Amino acid sequence: MFAAAVLFLFACAALAADGIPRKAASCIICHGAGGNSTDPAMPSLAGQPAQFISTQLYLFREGNRKDAQMTPIASGLSNADMNELAAYFSSQKPAAPSRKTAPENAAAGRRLAEQHHCVQCHGPALLGLQHIPRLAGQQFAYLKTQLRGFKAGIRYDTDGNMTSAVQRLSEADIEVLADYLAGLK
Ligand code: HEC
Ligand code: HEC
Repeated sequence: MFAAAVLFLFACAALAADGIPRKAASCIICHGAGGNSTDPAMPSLAGQPAQFISTQLYLFREGNRKDAQMTPIASGLSNADMNELAAYFSSQKPAAPSRKTAPENAAAGRRLAEQHHCVQCHGPALLGLQHIPRLAGQQFAYLKTQLRGFKAGIRYDTDGNMTSAVQRLSEADIEVLADYLAGLK
């Protein structure tokens, strides 16, 4: 009886009636229901590795990664909030990709992903793992902005690996890769 009461209180504190963490209600305004973005410039969070999400929130809060919209949001989150939000969005099912890869970019994109070792870190199916993001089905415009940002040295990169991985990509390569990745399930 006592244990049940404690559990009930705990659940009420962290979760709204529908099982969504209270703090996640504000996130979905930008990142979409269940973290499936419908805005090409806004990243999806659904199915991202939990460690990737919590790490990025931490980087925004500490001022390493900067963004006019995300920085103020992350600055109000505790470590416990970040872990809870990461667990929630990582457990959401990614929606079917909203973009369809152009037929000529499917093979060319895969070739680039292998040639530039994207698959070595992001995984053979580009689903991400641990602190490395899922790229499959990510929004097209967002992917391009990030790749250009790494190349120009303006997207924060914890260990420098991404910045070096993209140095040899041309603008045309970035278009092909983003089109390939955005259409992957
Ligand atoms: C006002 C719009 C807005 C709201 C609300 C918002 N975000 Fe964001 N978020 C963004 C934008 C824009 C970016 C991309 C920033 C960039 O380009 O670096 C982003 C990026 C992120 C990233 C990094 C994703 C990646 O793939 O690198 C995470 C994680 C994230 N947001 C989590 C959250 C969480 C959790 C909440 C709710 C507590 C939230 N966001 C609320 C706009 C928003
Ligand atoms: C040596 C490992 C490594 C290689 C190789 C690599 N990545 Fe990454 N990538 C990472 C890590 C780690 C991050 C997260 C960086 C951070 O935020 O500190 C990342 C982040 C990204 C992001 C940002 C995604 C987001 O949601 O914010 C994109 C896009 C990306 N990589 C695409 C690529 C592509 C395309 C290639 C091949 C050209 C590639 N990566 C090669 C490790 C790697």
